[in-house]
Amino acid sequence: MKTLFIPVLLVVMMSAAVISCTGRGAETGNQASADSIELVKRGEYLVTVGVCDDCHSPKKMGPKGPEIDPELRLSGFPSSRPIPKFDSNMAKSGMVQFNEDFTSYAGPWGISFSANLTSSPTGAGSWNFENFKYAIRHGKWKGLENSRDLMPPMPWFNYKLMPDEDLKAVHAYLRTLKPVDNVPPAPRGFGGAGSR
Ligand code: HEC
Repeated sequence: MKTLFIPVLLVVMMSAAVISCTGRGAETGNQASADSIELVKRGEYLVTVGVCDDCHSPKKMGPKGPEIDPELRLSGFPSSRPIPKFDSNMAKSGMVQFNEDFTSYAGPWGISFSANLTSSPTGAGSWNFENFKYAIRHGKWKGLENSRDLMPPMPWFNYKLMPDEDLKAVHAYLRTLKPVDNVPPAPRGFGGAGSR
């Protein structure tokens, strides 16, 4: 009786472990459980040292200057804001201008706005990896082959040097970001809103 009992107990314990492991991922449906925790952590590190927040996170004014607004982190230039007024003559002469929280820009290329990188359907964190990789490697809007080129100052020509594993980590991390619905304005030339 004793010899039979131990193997049976082992089998029961092992199947309980298998059920609890598979059950956890399926229950939460959380992307972080599908991508490994190490991959997401590496992505967080790369996003931090890659200073994505500088341009992609709206900021609030703090005692020492602009501070990231945690509610809107990495959601791009907020579409609820008026378009900042840039000096078009200065921009045309080559002077680059930033708004107060570095989320919109004017330069010889026109006026551009940082994009939403969160996991919302309006953000790059909701894209599949192939589109994300294409956007960074080829500088194409939404990561689509026939779309327009990404505008300055997005430094994709630096980020394109990241190996696939790093791009996968960044993508995995973006997928875990709090979704913020926001569609930043399309880039534009001078003469309309945003120029003076
Ligand atoms: C110096 C400013 C700046 C930095 C730093 C920056 N970006 Fe961007 N990024 C932009 C701007 C501006 C756009 C939008 C360009 C456009 O509309 O063509 C953009 C667009 C993108 C897009 C394409 C979005 C779309 O909808 O097509 C992705 C993806 C992206 N950035 C990811 C990143 C990641 C990841 C980092 C950090 C590793 C980063 N960016 C750092 C300015 C920046």
